[in-house]
Order: sequence, then C-alpha cells, then structure tokens
Amino acid sequence: MSGTISHTQVSKWRCPSNIALVKYWGKRDFQKPMNPSLSFSLQNSFTETSVELFKEGDEKVEFYFEGVASAFSERIEKYLDHLSSRLPWIKKYNFRIYSRNSFPHSAGIASSASSFGALALCLTEIDFAFSGKDTDSSDFLQKASELARIGSGSACRSVYPGFTVWGQNHLFETCRDEYAIPLSEGIHPIFSGLRDAILFVDSGVKDVSSSVGHRLMDDHIYQRSRIAQAFENINGLYLALLTGNKDKFIEIVESEALSLHAMMMTSNPSFILLKPNSLELISRIRRFREKSKIPVCFTIDAGPNIHLLYFSENELDVKAFVERELLVFCENGKWIDDGIGGGPEQMKD
Ligand code: DP6
Repeated sequence: MSGTISHTQVSKWRCPSNIALVKYWGKRDFQKPMNPSLSFSLQNSFTETSVELFKEGDEKVEFYFEGVASAFSERIEKYLDHLSSRLPWIKKYNFRIYSRNSFPHSAGIASSASSFGALALCLTEIDFAFSGKDTDSSDFLQKASELARIGSGSACRSVYPGFTVWGQNHLFETCRDEYAIPLSEGIHPIFSGLRDAILFVDSGVKDVSSSVGHRLMDDHIYQRSRIAQAFENINGLYLALLTGNKDKFIEIVESEALSLHAMMMTSNPSFILLKPNSLELISRIRRFREKSKIPVCFTIDAGPNIHLLYFSENELDVKAFVERELLVFCENGKWIDDGIGGGPEQMKD
C-alpha cells in the first residue's frame, strides 16, 4: 500500500489459522502467556476480513460475518476500544467490517486465531498508512502480531508463514510475550511438507471456552511442572525441527497434546473435552504408525477434534488410511485436508 490515507480507508487481508505443537495454556497479566508456544500456520483454513473506516453514522462497529450482521461486533468493539490508546485514530472513525472463513462455521475449528489475525493485519495496514509507512516495512508483521495477541493469544502466531514461536524464552532472544516471531531460519526441509488432516469429531459448543480454560491454570496444582515441561518441549522440538528428527517431533507433539488435556482433566473444576471417537482416532493413529512405520502423529486443541500430522512424501498412504479407517469416526465424515502454509496475504479487490 502507498502509505496515504483516503476518506474511506479500506484494507483487506487473508490470514490463516494455526495449530500449536507446544501449547499456550494459561495467562499472566493481560494476554501474556504463562509459557512459550510453538505452532505452524495452516494453508487452507483461513479468514478473509475487510475493514472500512468512515465518519458518517453513529454505530461504532458494523460487523458482517459471511454477509450477515453478527453479534461478534460487541467483542470487536471492546477490542477496538482497548487498542485506541495505541492507535488514537480509532476514536475518530466508525468501522464497517466484513469477514468470512474458508472453513465451515459449525466445524468446531477455533476461528479466533485467523479472525483476530486478519483484523489486526487490516488495522496495522491502516495505522501504517496514517503514518506514511507501507506494509513492506520490516516491523509490519511484528506490529500486527502484537495487535492480534490482544484480541486472542494464539492469533499472534497466525501472521507469519510456517513455524512460529510466541513467549519469552532463553532459546530465542528476540522472542517476547508481546508478540510472536517467525522461525524461518534453518528448519529442516522435510518439515516444509508437513500436512494436517483435521478430523472433526464433534462440532457442538465446547464445554469450556478458551478464556475460562486459561484461567484454570492460575491455581492449578501442576502449574509449575507444566510451565517447565513447555520450556523443555520448545527446546526439544526446535532441535527436532532443525535436525529433521521425525521421531522426536512425534514424541513431543503427542506429549504436548495429551498434557493440555491432562491439565484440563486435573483442574478444578475439571473438564473432559475428548469424546469416545477422539480416543478411537488416537489409538488408530498410533496403531497405524506402529504397523506401517509411517511417521504420523496427532495433536489436539482445547476440543475433541484430532489433527493428524504427517509428511507429504507419505500423502497417498496416509490419505488412504484416513478414508479407510478414520472418517467413519468423524462427524458426518467431515475433515479438512490442510498443511503448513505460506502465511497471510494482502487482498486487492
Ligand atoms: C489450546 O488463543 O483461543 O488452542 O487468548 O483467550 O483467545 P485467548 O485463547 P486462545 O487459546 C488457544 C489455546 C490452545 C493452544 C494454542 O493454540 O496454543
């Protein structure tokens, strides 16, 4: 973008969702993570958002999700209000925002990462335009990551391509709790073909929202050991990514997914988000790995759906396995064929 501002400013971005391999679970202060997390951005699961600024009318935010006025406008209004101390121009304009997801709304995919990622990219572009800077500026994505984090923690990892890490830790000196950084350097080429078959077990409303879930870590009896484990897993996983160590990758990724659910099961109150079919999928994935020696593993977010991770060189065998053995345990046979992606895109209409 040229770095000038017009009367009605429009910005439009596509931002992917991401899946954490080392999980963010628990917060400190305002929207800061209790432990560092590491994720990769997806290719096919994304949100497209356009933001239009105008001075007419008295509604601060009009928000249309897939063409329909949505109650999400309240959360966005709060978000904008929160950002207005950093971006004072927010106070001077009203906002018309259109948003759509590439994945079905009811699929049970957490869309807050891609939604706040896309919105933050639009706001950052507009902010840069107001100060005469363009989106090629070196600090553009970092700024977008910081704004995205304020909307939803995991969203700060969505504004980069490939692997991303968020949260202060000794391994990455430039990494902060305020924003994520991309892990572009030195990742072993086998991981550029990382695939994710998202298997939908249940698209119903979750028993616990992620903000309530994070709070359960505040006085969790395993809090200290969970934090220590996450730091250790960041180190181990990064080493596996650099050296192409698939076995270590699998070991850490599955341990993280199960630890996240173990934290929920042992909190007070406790939650069991896995369904019988989630467990069936997990045990079939492990059995397939043992028998076929094909490197596959699973990860899980704070819900019942299973992400089956594998490598592109095994795509035919793994897809045949998915169709033959796994889809019968998915809700209406629903799954998304996804993989590691190239990050956000600025859209021109
Ligand atoms: C289990 O980013 O959705 O997916 O910051 O409250 O919006 P808020 O939480 P959110 O939490 C995601 C938790 C997770 C793990 C992860 O993505 O790292």
